[in-house]
Amino acid sequence: MLRRLGPVIVAALLAGSLGTAPATQAATPTLPAAIPALSPRPLVAFSLVVPVSTAPSGLIARAILPKGVACPPLVARTSSGKKVARASRPRVIPGSTNPAFTALRSCEAKMPRNATRAEFGGLPIPSSMPARIDRLAIVGDTGCRIWESYIQDCTSAQDWPYARIAQRIAEDDPDLIVHMGDYFYREETCPEAQADLCANSPGPIPGLPFTDTDYSWLADAIVPMAPLFPVAPILALRGNHEECFRGGNGWFLFFDPSWQSADLCAPVDGVAPTIISDSYAVDLPLRGDRALRLVVVDSSNGSDTSITPSLQPGQRAAYQAGTALAADAGESWLLTHRPITGLVTTEYSPPPPTEWTPWTSMDQAAASYGLLDDYGIVVGSHIHVVESVQIPGLPGQLVVGNGGTLLDSSTGYVIPPHGALADASGQPVDPGLTPYPTASRLWVRAQFGYAIATPGQGSGAWRFSLRSVSGDEFAVCRLRAPDLRCADA
Ligand SMILES: [Fe+2]
Ligand SMILES: [Fe+2]
Repeated sequence: MLRRLGPVIVAALLAGSLGTAPATQAATPTLPAAIPALSPRPLVAFSLVVPVSTAPSGLIARAILPKGVACPPLVARTSSGKKVARASRPRVIPGSTNPAFTALRSCEAKMPRNATRAEFGGLPIPSSMPARIDRLAIVGDTGCRIWESYIQDCTSAQDWPYARIAQRIAEDDPDLIVHMGDYFYREETCPEAQADLCANSPGPIPGLPFTDTDYSWLADAIVPMAPLFPVAPILALRGNHEECFRGGNGWFLFFDPSWQSADLCAPVDGVAPTIISDSYAVDLPLRGDRALRLVVVDSSNGSDTSITPSLQPGQRAAYQAGTALAADAGESWLLTHRPITGLVTTEYSPPPPTEWTPWTSMDQAAASYGLLDDYGIVVGSHIHVVESVQIPGLPGQLVVGNGGTLLDSSTGYVIPPHGALADASGQPVDPGLTPYPTASRLWVRAQFGYAIATPGQGSGAWRFSLRSVSGDEFAVCRLRAPDLRCADA
C-alpha cells in the first residue's frame, strides 16, 4: 500500500531534506559505490505564527523528522550578531495514536526575539514576524480527496494542483502565508479499482477512531507544502478535516500553533474527543501607522446544516473570546474555517420536501450571532470555490477554498429568498435568533488557486488578487470594510 510513498521518503532522507532535492528524483541504474549515511536533518522545517503569549517572538519553529532521529537545535542569529542555540522538544503523542504515526516525529522550539536568521536542523526558516505586511497569501482546502465516490486523481498536477499552487505562492514571495484549514483528505483506503488515481494512497489504520496517518499527512500536506516553508511564516488554521475523528492527530502533531499540544486529539477510551482550540489574535504592522489584527476562531467542529446543542456553549465562548480580542483593535479580520454566511450550490439540495437551505455553516452562524460587529471582514474556506457574500449589517464574507481539493460545482449559486438562520420557509431555526436578512451580493468562481491580499489606501481598505494555478490574476475583490466586492479580472 505504501510502496509509491516509500521512495519519496527515502529520496528526501538521502538528500537531507525535502527542500533541497525534488522528491521525484529518479534512482540511478547502477549501484552506488557506498550507501550514504542517513542524514540527521529534518525532512522539512518551518515557522508557525503563534500568539505572543505562546512565544514573545510570535513564532514557533517546527521540524518534521524520521522517528528515531534526535530533535535538533534551533540556531538563530540575533540583530546584535549573537548566535543563539536552543534545544528543541519533541511533540509527544500518546500510545492511542502511536499506531498511525510510526514513521515521523515533530520537534519544536520557540524562536528567539530579534532573530535575523534561523536554521532548524540545518534548514533555513523564517526568523521573525514581518516588520511590514505588503503581501498576505491565503490558501485553503488543499488535500487530495479520497472519500466514497469522490476520488480525485492524486497523481495529476492538473486534477490535484496543490504542489503547483504552493510553488506559485512561494514565487509571489509573500510576507505571511495563511492556510485556512482542510489539509487532510485521504480519509479512506484507495479503492482497488481506482488505485491508479490514488497512487496507492495510504488509508486509515483499521480499528482506530480517526482516519489519518503520518504517511497520509506526508502525501497530502508536508510534501506539497515544502516550497512554502523557507519563504514566510505560516498562520495555520484548523478545518473540519482536522476534527479529532478525521485528521486531528496529525494536525496537532505537525501544525497546531500551541506549545506541546500533540496529544489533544488522542482517543479517550477508544473515542475521538471534541476539542475547540482557544481563540487567539496576531497583530500585523502595515504601511504607515496602520496595523491589522487577525483573530482566529476554531470552527472545525459542528454541523453545516443544523444547530448542535451540545456544541453551542463552547463554540459561542470561542467567538466571545474572539470578539474580546478584536474590541480594542483599529482594524481586525475574523479568520475561521467554516464560513459564517457562506452559500453552497443548490445542486447539492436533497430532494423535496426539505427544510434545507444553501446557507452554511449553521452551527457557526448561531454561535457567532451578535458577535461580528468589530470585524472588517470574515475570511473562511470550506466551500471549494472562491466566493464573496455580503449580508446587510454584517462584514463581508470571503471564502478561499480553492487550494487543490476537488472543486465544488461551478453552477447553482443563487441568493436564496431568506437569510442565514432561517429555514426554507423563512422561519427561525432557533426561536431565540432572528434570521439574518438575505444577501445583497453574491459572487462565486470555481477555479483552483489562491489569494494575495495587499493593503489599500486608508483604514479597512484591501485588495485581494485571486490567482490561478499558474499565478495569473483571474478576479479581484476590494474591501472597504465592511463592504466587500469581487469581480472577474
Ligand atoms: Fe474542505
Ligand atoms: Fe471544510
